[in-house]
Amino acid sequence: MPPLSSPPPSSADVPSSPDGSRSPSSLPPVVPASPAPRADVAAALRAAGCVFAEDEADLILATARTADETAELVRRRAAGLPLEQVVGWARFHGLRISVEPDVFVPRRRTEFLVEQAVAAAPERAVVVDLCCGSGAVGAALADALDPAELHAADIDPAAVRCARRNVAPFAGQVHTGDLFDALPPALRGRIDVLAANVPYVPTGEVGLLPAEARDHEPLVALDGGSDGLDVLRRVTADAPRWLARGGRLLSETSERQAPAALEALRRAGLHPRLAVSEELHATVVIGELPGRR
Ligand SMILES: C[S@@+](CC[C@H](N)C(=O)[O-])C[C@H]1O[C@@H](n2cnc3c(N)ncnc32)[C@H](O)[C@@H]1O
Repeated sequence: MPPLSSPPPSSADVPSSPDGSRSPSSLPPVVPASPAPRADVAAALRAAGCVFAEDEADLILATARTADETAELVRRRAAGLPLEQVVGWARFHGLRISVEPDVFVPRRRTEFLVEQAVAAAPERAVVVDLCCGSGAVGAALADALDPAELHAADIDPAAVRCARRNVAPFAGQVHTGDLFDALPPALRGRIDVLAANVPYVPTGEVGLLPAEARDHEPLVALDGGSDGLDVLRRVTADAPRWLARGGRLLSETSERQAPAALEALRRAGLHPRLAVSEELHATVVIGELPGRR
């Protein structure tokens, strides 16, 4: 079995760890409650191929309330589920984000998109998290910006359910549907921050993803079409009708996709810009609608 490599917080690709995070929802406190010895849990996880067995054992023991629950969580993790889906939450931009099975686990690198959005947002912004998944991006933006309005949308009902929990503390509204079709028409021309972390894995590369993603995150959250940019192109083409003047669309891509993504923004009439974080291995394309706010 290939190593299960989720946890510690050092991984830019997979978030986790309870330390320092605040809860936007009423998640259980991180207090060890299970009687199962840490060494036994860690040994079981290590035997299943978990690289960070001790750290994972601590998280599982902090989540489970009984020995039976501990055994069940260890069984699920050993079966290859992402740690965040096993314990039910992920750390993202200092928040505890509720994560359910079959919902995309927010990645640490996406915190860079949040930071780029926050840096350029006006006061009392109208914020939309399109393709919201768990709603982690919307929750983090609302936490940082105190927006006038927060909307999130996703095509997947499981993601919408999860996002509702995560944006509820910020009075966010979550809509179901295909991209902009999901949004209330009253948002047209009014969006200041349009965060769209769309699926961007090229179809031919989905099979190369780690098993945790390939087997336990929905294909609709990963597959971005032949060059990975199908969904981004659709978002980009419609974005100018929804953005306020001076409003920005922000989307994560790979480094390789960035030139084509920037070209799509330019063609749509947005002023394109690239932002890169070496530390988080993150590439974000930003398109601004010309004109004054
Ligand atoms: C890569 S995940 C990102 C989730 C979240 N924004 C995050 O950063 O954690 C992409 C999300 O886009 C959603 N999605 C894919 N196609 C969509 C569409 N046509 N309309 C709305 N949502 C879509 C998927 O259901 C998935 O939740």
